[in-house]
Amino acid sequence: MSSAVQITDVTKAFGDVVAVDNISIDIKDGEFFSLLGPSGCGKTTTLRLIAGFEQPTMGQISIMGQPVAGVPAYRRPVNTVFQSYALFPHMTVAKNVAFGLEMAKVPADEIKKRVDAALGLVEMSGFGERRTTQMSGGQKQRVALARALVNWPKVLLLDEPLGALDLKLRKNMQLELKQIQEELGITFIYVTHDQEEAITMSDRIAVMSDGKVQQIGPAREIYEQPNNRFVADFIGETNFIDGTVVDSDSNSTVLESDDVKLAGRSKVKMAVGDKATLAIRPEKIVLSLKTGFLNTDSETITLDGTIRDIIYIGTDTRYQVVIPTGDKLFVRVQNLGRPEDIAFNKGDEVHVQWRINNAQVLAE
Ligand SMILES: Nc1ncnc2c1ncn2[C@@H]1O[C@H](COP(=O)(O)OP(=O)(O)OP(=O)(O)O)[C@@H](O)[C@H]1O
Ligand SMILES: [Mg+2]
Repeated sequence: MSSAVQITDVTKAFGDVVAVDNISIDIKDGEFFSLLGPSGCGKTTTLRLIAGFEQPTMGQISIMGQPVAGVPAYRRPVNTVFQSYALFPHMTVAKNVAFGLEMAKVPADEIKKRVDAALGLVEMSGFGERRTTQMSGGQKQRVALARALVNWPKVLLLDEPLGALDLKLRKNMQLELKQIQEELGITFIYVTHDQEEAITMSDRIAVMSDGKVQQIGPAREIYEQPNNRFVADFIGETNFIDGTVVDSDSNSTVLESDDVKLAGRSKVKMAVGDKATLAIRPEKIVLSLKTGFLNTDSETITLDGTIRDIIYIGTDTRYQVVIPTGDKLFVRVQNLGRPEDIAFNKGDEVHVQWRINNAQVLAE
């Protein structure tokens, strides 16, 4: 697959502030790619570097195979959708969408055709003569999207475009955006700090913190095999158990914590004696009553536990369980409503189990 945007060893400093710190990302043509990370991690700056609103302090950016150093923003084959819509309030919807084409002196009949097509795409046909002040947030966001799509960019940059919408509308718009992207086959680079949004929509995600890329991969890989504690913590919920490495190769590592040995997958060989952390997701842990039948094999870790707390949340029940290391683990049990399912009580003595393959040992 060819690249849409290649960012190579790019750093952007504003005075003393390093907003983007030596990042390299290769975004493929037709990909839905998300930049995900907490506030201030450098997402918007990365987008602005691609768009040409900022110049890198160091490094290179290419768009559709062409280096863009020195190419002004308006000549790059990209368009940007901002969180704040940035619509012109005194113009109609159609005029807003047509604005860029009119500036580029595209013939009037061509403009009309393209504006109609763009409004159709975002399901806003018939809204052309409305004022943008007479529309809901979701409708404004669609107009902003139509305006960005109307001149057929190769790459669309979206900076938290759904941030101002309420949860329900945001969920609908997520699906619609994804459909539009698939339909048009253009590259979307999507900035969000909402991990669920990134997971729902993206082919691949770059997780960022402090201006650095922590991991790039499909949602499943980032969730199931996080590179480090930051990624494991930022995406979804995770239990962490700190310990000391007692055995390690390039695929798996055994930790010891309070005389308890715990094994998990690891991506690098760690030195014996180093501090490390085992990460295990709440839904990957299985609880059973100590009086019941115990299923064990060499692929499974079994620990004693005591139920400390129970929170019913509808789809699942969240148990807090204390294990012999002293750690309190969260365990999610889906409420399937089957007669054989056990509802545990506070104080119950249980077996706590998980598959070694589902646990990750992360270097400090
Ligand atoms: N023009 C600027 N001048 C000085 N510092 C800046 C400038 N733009 C961004 N920064 C700083 O660079 C860092 C990254 O900012 P950026 O806007 O890229 O973060 P972000 O990930 O988009 O955050 P948010 O989720 O809050 O939008 C921040 O520390 C910010 O204060
Ligand atoms: Mg931002």
